[in-house]
Amino acid sequence: MATEGPATRRVQVAEHPRLLKLKEMFNSKFGSIPKFYVRAPGRVNIIGEHIDYCGYSVLPMAVEQDMLIAVEPVKTHILQLANTNPLYPDFSTNANNIQIDKTKPLWHNYFLCGFKGIQEHFGLSNLTGMNCLVDGNIPPSSGLSSSSALVCCAGLVTLTVLGMNLSKGLKTPNLISINNYTKLGGTAVGWMGSDSFSPSRAWVELAEICAKSERYIGTEGGGMDQSISFLAEEGTAKLIEFSPLRATDVKLPSGAVFVIANSCVEMNKAATSHFNIRVMECRLAAKLLAKHKSLQWDKVLRLEEVQAKLGVSLEEMLLVTEDALHSEPYSPEEICECLGISLEEFRTQILSPNTQDVLTFKLYQRAKHVFSEAARVLQFKKICEDAPDNMVQLLGDLMNQSHMSCRDMYECSCPELDQLVDICRKFGAQGSRLTGAGWGGCTVSIVPADKLPSFLANVHESYYQRSDRSLAPEKQSLFATKPGGGALVFLEP
Ligand code: GLA
Repeated sequence: MATEGPATRRVQVAEHPRLLKLKEMFNSKFGSIPKFYVRAPGRVNIIGEHIDYCGYSVLPMAVEQDMLIAVEPVKTHILQLANTNPLYPDFSTNANNIQIDKTKPLWHNYFLCGFKGIQEHFGLSNLTGMNCLVDGNIPPSSGLSSSSALVCCAGLVTLTVLGMNLSKGLKTPNLISINNYTKLGGTAVGWMGSDSFSPSRAWVELAEICAKSERYIGTEGGGMDQSISFLAEEGTAKLIEFSPLRATDVKLPSGAVFVIANSCVEMNKAATSHFNIRVMECRLAAKLLAKHKSLQWDKVLRLEEVQAKLGVSLEEMLLVTEDALHSEPYSPEEICECLGISLEEFRTQILSPNTQDVLTFKLYQRAKHVFSEAARVLQFKKICEDAPDNMVQLLGDLMNQSHMSCRDMYECSCPELDQLVDICRKFGAQGSRLTGAGWGGCTVSIVPADKLPSFLANVHESYYQRSDRSLAPEKQSLFATKPGGGALVFLEP
């Protein structure tokens, strides 16, 4: 595989069975050959759950599993989407009239989020279409970010087709409309080769566009998934920080392996309101803490803003929480009283459309989780840097504490995840926790390398063979993983 630029790889498709199969399927579906391919990986979050949308840093790594899309720009206005998985039906629409149905998280809507995100970011109209065949191998609804990977992949596909230039600050936008693109003979990746192309700047910008555009689907995610999909690098986990978005390498211990185990309970965060309720609870907690500290609370949206305004440590924020909030759930009326606003103002100015009917909000528990989890992320990174002799044990302890906090304070676990975490610890994991949004999906465990074979065998027997979960293909349900690379465009020579 020859390398051409940081984001583009020249590949001999014939040497890559998955690409070859995709090319053949594309040909039989659309009667033509793809012009290029794009991949965007899923991720496993090692620590730092449900804190990105509060403004706090998280510590994920990309997994090897990804979304792969074969693409051919066309001269009509039709965007045609197909999926290699027959469970996901074909879809086509006018590229200039993208409608995203928030009521049903259908697969193609995630593609449309990425497409529309690029279109709106650059204010483009009169777009021509493309044919795309999607092939994903990230288990869906499992907390490994299959949906964001599809949004990111679609964003990069669209950007590539349009020949757009990111990092506007570095170079005047190199607007090649699709018409020019076709006139120019359609080399498709002109922007990649431009002299002043800065991959990291462009990747940051693209991650931000995709994080924003995934919200078209109705979930208020925080940006971790899209950031790691673009900013990941093979061999290293990343500390992802926000405002401004940036990624720093975190070297994981060489004596341990990270193992993903799927609880096989499916959780689609766009199909339920759990996720958005948590986002709202954190926002309300931030407002009440700000009010308690006589800050201007109405502009505050995230817990991190309160900490920044007070200029105190995370440990002190835990004390402020003890002082300002009570552990009994808050009713909308009580929140209104604290903030001095009417129920009408509360509903129209603060609550999101999908949290209008919520009757109780647990603010104390959510804030305690967020501040303690944010501190654990920083401790985790520090231990990785200092590399003490007992680092695997120390990292494992932090992961265990994270799971307990997710289970008890954030209430985003489920009985199967708790059982799986217990089984993983029993068979040798130093630490084990749910990963991703929770309420189902996967766990991640840190396992001393020498214990890996017995760990896998025992967890397999205890969790997967003792119930109908054995129906799930084991390869996808229980596997060791290493930090993988980020999104890429593949071209044939
Ligand atoms: C989902 C969201 C992320 C993050 C996690 C929980 O994956 O997309 O932004 O909030 O849940 O940590």
